[in-house]
Amino acid sequence: MRIDVVSLFPEFVAQISAHGVVGRAQERGLVAIHGWNPRDYASGNYRRVDERPFGGGPGMVMLIDPLRDCLHATRAADPAASSVVYLTPQGAPLTQAKVRELAGRERLVLLCGRYEGIDERLVAAEVDEELSIGDYVLSGGELAAAVVIDAVARLQPGALSDSESAVQDSFETGPDGLALLDCPHFTRPVEHTLGTVPPVLLSGNHAEIARWRRQQALGRTWLRRPELIDRERLSRADQALLDAFLAESGATPDPRNP
Ligand code: ADE
Repeated sequence: MRIDVVSLFPEFVAQISAHGVVGRAQERGLVAIHGWNPRDYASGNYRRVDERPFGGGPGMVMLIDPLRDCLHATRAADPAASSVVYLTPQGAPLTQAKVRELAGRERLVLLCGRYEGIDERLVAAEVDEELSIGDYVLSGGELAAAVVIDAVARLQPGALSDSESAVQDSFETGPDGLALLDCPHFTRPVEHTLGTVPPVLLSGNHAEIARWRRQQALGRTWLRRPELIDRERLSRADQALLDAFLAESGATPDPRNP
């Protein structure tokens, strides 16, 4: 997969993406990340990339032409079709389902804004999709682009050492269509001043362990993110697991999800 990043700080995104799973995915040739700086496409002695907004107000707005020429250069650099994704708080929320969809594409161009934003005419003409990584405002799209790159790169076949680990992630939808939070994890030592590892995990009984993990995932999701579970649509087995979890924990069901 090829990912082009259009940003006034392309080296910032490259640096964040040089480590861990994403760095390894690049080394293995699973993902190639290319940075592009619209300033290289700006004209004049000052190579301006922004101007004050019409209508007044604070901040600066990124100019059409340097961005457009830069985007056209990314397109010319590779014949594979690519969609342009603009990272902005006004975008659709990024979800694991969206990440999966993006991860299946051959090529992506991530457009990072700075200042107050980008001239809307450029967005209308060149952007295919707008994505937000959450309901908060960053000072630019670079961290959001790094988030997209990380989430997408780790789903490339061969990027994770244990091919199972992405399947078990939080929000990965199971065959029943349910996307749950992950269960808790424990490692050595068994006994610690901070507590003991749940005995079922030491039992060697794989069916029991799977049952416990499913129950924990259901219980946690119910308590922390009740909007992710439609209780009516749970299987009988899941309902029984959740009931037992709630009875044991003494938790009261969320009133939004009675
Ligand atoms: N740029 C600034 N804030 C952002 C956000 N929350 N998501 C995506 N891009 C952004």
